[in-house]
Amino acid sequence: MAAVVAAERAAQLRTEIERHNHAYYGLDNPSIPDAEYDKLFRELQDLEQQYPELLMPDSPTQRVGGTPLKEFPPRRHGVPMLSLNNAFAAEEVEAFDQRVRDGLESIAAIEYAVEPKFDGLAISLTYENGIFTSGATRGDGATGEEVTPNLRTLRCLPLRLRGEGWPALIEVRGEVLMFKADFAALNERQRARADKEFANPRNAAAGSLRQLDSKITAGRPLSFFAYGVGAGAEQLAVKTHAELMDLLAAWGFPVAVERRVVNGAKGLLGYFAEIGAKRPDLPYDIDGVVYKVNKLAAQARLGFVSRAPRFAIAHKFPAEEALTEVLGIDVQVGRTGAITPVARLKPVFVGGVTVTNATLHNEDEVRRKDVRLGDTVIVRRAGDVIPEVVSVVFEKRPARDLFGGEPLHLPFVMPTRCPECDSLIAKSEDEAIARCTGGLFCPAQRKQALIHFAARRAMDIEGLGDKLVEQLVDAGLLHTPADIYGLTVETLVGLERMGEKSAQNLVDAIEKSKATTLARFIFALGIRNVGEATARDLARHFGRLDALLAADGEALQRVPEVGPVVAASLSAFLAETHNQQVITALRAAGVNWSDADPVAATAQIFTGQTLVLTGTLPTLKRDAAKAMIEAAGGKVAGSVSKKTAYVVAGEEAGSKLEKARELGVPVIDENELLAMFEQGEKQ
Ligand code: IVH
Repeated sequence: MAAVVAAERAAQLRTEIERHNHAYYGLDNPSIPDAEYDKLFRELQDLEQQYPELLMPDSPTQRVGGTPLKEFPPRRHGVPMLSLNNAFAAEEVEAFDQRVRDGLESIAAIEYAVEPKFDGLAISLTYENGIFTSGATRGDGATGEEVTPNLRTLRCLPLRLRGEGWPALIEVRGEVLMFKADFAALNERQRARADKEFANPRNAAAGSLRQLDSKITAGRPLSFFAYGVGAGAEQLAVKTHAELMDLLAAWGFPVAVERRVVNGAKGLLGYFAEIGAKRPDLPYDIDGVVYKVNKLAAQARLGFVSRAPRFAIAHKFPAEEALTEVLGIDVQVGRTGAITPVARLKPVFVGGVTVTNATLHNEDEVRRKDVRLGDTVIVRRAGDVIPEVVSVVFEKRPARDLFGGEPLHLPFVMPTRCPECDSLIAKSEDEAIARCTGGLFCPAQRKQALIHFAARRAMDIEGLGDKLVEQLVDAGLLHTPADIYGLTVETLVGLERMGEKSAQNLVDAIEKSKATTLARFIFALGIRNVGEATARDLARHFGRLDALLAADGEALQRVPEVGPVVAASLSAFLAETHNQQVITALRAAGVNWSDADPVAATAQIFTGQTLVLTGTLPTLKRDAAKAMIEAAGGKVAGSVSKKTAYVVAGEEAGSKLEKARELGVPVIDENELLAMFEQGEKQ
């Protein structure tokens, strides 16, 4: 290709690529597929490599990062970068508006340009004859650090101004930040590479921009919003801040779409409320809003006081992050048994409230953040989100012990038993969350379990909903689902908002629910991973509840559709004595099903009889056998007498077996016992 043709093509490519950059980063509206973009980009790179004289400072290829720097050179701003005074309360905003009116001697409501206060870092960009030539951080306001090569890597920044009307030299001011989604993705990448994670998007943006190697910056997803101009402002043909923002947008700078013009203090406070409500849904972090007198002439009249303008103010949200101390680390049991480590904190005012607890999410998180007793931590409370521990300030960790060993407090270890009910805590391999296996017995899980138990698709107790369950549990009237069947009209009418009629209706509904199906009953137990369909499969496969109770992991997995996960949660649930007791009590209370279970359907084959269990039965657990006998009207005793009807003997039966033989009491094994139940079923 001839040099002239190459130069022409390169210029064409530069313009086209910048147009796509603007559509993608500025307008959020990509104009071509990524692959097409890459093709154009590579073509330009190749041309520039072949004809180095074509390489311009404003070429989009210069965004990808160059040679590492030793340090950032100082750069004096054409016009100093000032800061803003802050307001937190409505009264302070009203006072600001009053000062502005006094200053302008105005009786009419003042027009304000309002916009988000971006939570990033302030940057000044210098354009000479429309070409980006340098950019610097705010520094001390007069002199900043030059980070031009790094800024070039931000694809949302125009390297050459679009449109027209720009003076020979202009400083465009704005904020470099990282979008929340980009921040999350960056941290995920950092984690995957075992690199340091950033505490928040602001830190990530600052850390990424202040890289000596711009190749690193190029790999970081930084964004920019313009909010003003420095040197060159006086040469612009605009009369208001709002017009200035439109002009900056026309030149190719991203500006906040949330910007507006409002009137008077009322308008300011209305905007504050509006943005406050939108804040969680904004794609980037903001720490408040900024109010600026809209008319530039009025701004000039008001002027500055020390280092801040009189014509503008930042109305800040309460700080979302604060430092405090960890007084302890406990675990909390959630509604589904999820065990969450929680940091107990020295009370601290953050996000507008006093916070004393903060979540640590799960065991892996605590380990990763290495939070320990006595640590100073950054706590974050954003909006209505549960406060969380962001990170530990390691420099403030109490000194090591005298021998230079480990710090005084050891890393957090997850307890093995539930603090609420002492059941085992289990963590499956594919889940970060540990759970209490206490199920129905665990008070923290009780309310939810009871609500589930009574639900329409479970035991279908009409009228026993969330509110009532909560009331009953709080009143100490409900501990386990079995207690539901002990509720009487008399106890119920004592409750708030419960008349005699509704109490009677509820008691009737409870009575009606006793006749159910085995599938519904299994589902009602609220075993993790056992939904309605699985409950039905289990009911069909085992036929009798006792067969299910007796099944081990292998037997469970013989059920079609039941895999190791379901089998494991079933086994864990059924292994808890508390759960077994609740099941026994429910059957004793008269909960029954006629479809497949011989025990409930059977005549009470052991009515008035006492049986003794001894040794280990091959499949039935002792509690299960006991439950079956009791459900069939019998009693289980601990010692053999002449009155004992049967001794059920398993392996390694000892003295009780001998005694039975001595007294001539019939001895049966598990098979014979089960045969008796089956016999009963047929009757
Ligand atoms: S105007 C003359 N507008 O807030 C004052 N600043 O506390 C020029 N900031 O250093 C600032 N969003 O980094 C302005 N929409 C916005 C802003 C904003 C964020 C930052 C800026 C400045 C700091 C002042």
